[in-house]
Amino acid sequence: MNHPEVVLNTYDKRTIALHWIGAFLVMALWIAGQCIDLVPRGFPKITLRSLHITFGVIFGLLLIYRIIWRRRGGVHLPVLNNGWLVRLAKYFHVFLYALMLVIFLSGVIAVWYRGVNMFDLFKIPAFDSENKEMRRLLVEIHEWIANAIMVSALLHTAVAFWHHFKLKDGLLERMRPLKNANSATKG
Ligand code: HEM
Ligand code: HEM
Repeated sequence: MNHPEVVLNTYDKRTIALHWIGAFLVMALWIAGQCIDLVPRGFPKITLRSLHITFGVIFGLLLIYRIIWRRRGGVHLPVLNNGWLVRLAKYFHVFLYALMLVIFLSGVIAVWYRGVNMFDLFKIPAFDSENKEMRRLLVEIHEWIANAIMVSALLHTAVAFWHHFKLKDGLLERMRPLKNANSATKG
């Protein structure tokens, strides 16, 4: 991994855009996922489920691009903590990436196993439409991971605000959109 030299106290535009698009999609997909069970059967359910899957796939593709981008380039900043908290913060970011990857994969596996009617336009065939229990279990696993992401993201957000309001160390500023007009990567 070739980490570029840090020249500024802000992430680059692409890292910031990918972070916020990712954060928005995680929350929107979680809400949409919860609503699938609540809307009436037929057109509303099919449409909401199809939208959830479409944006889920967009989320997954952006995530893969983001991981490649973060490993290859972009600004990498030192963690703004002391001692063991440095390692904790780093591992927590890796953990968030792992959860995002796993939720994407669990969604794809659920779709592959149970099959889906996409927007009433085309059907993704089911690997096994008979085993109702397995279908239910796969969606349940997907939901557990989704809930784990939400709890972790809330914790992550609370820490970001703690830095901003309590420690006042400018951590939130480094992820702020439109602040990085002259940010660049060296090396
Ligand atoms: C309102 C909600 C959020 C706020 C205020 C926020 C804030 C931040 C800040 C300030 C950083 C930089 C930390 C540093 O420089 O050490 C960061 C990094 C990061 N955040 Fe968030 N975040 C939010 C939501 C999310 C969500 C929902 C996810 C994904 C589940 C997420 C995943 C990450 C990851 C993986 C990093 C590491 C940097 C990177 O590679 O992009 N964040 N966040
Ligand atoms: C950040 C990403 C995602 C989040 C937070 C998320 C969240 C959720 C949640 C909370 C549910 C409701 C589970 C339940 O109540 O039983 C759900 C259902 C579902 N999700 Fe996701 N999801 C994500 C990505 C994906 C992806 C990438 C796919 C497929 C490619 C997918 C496919 C599905 C399917 C098929 C269901 C079941 C819908 C139904 O009940 O008919 N999800 N998701």
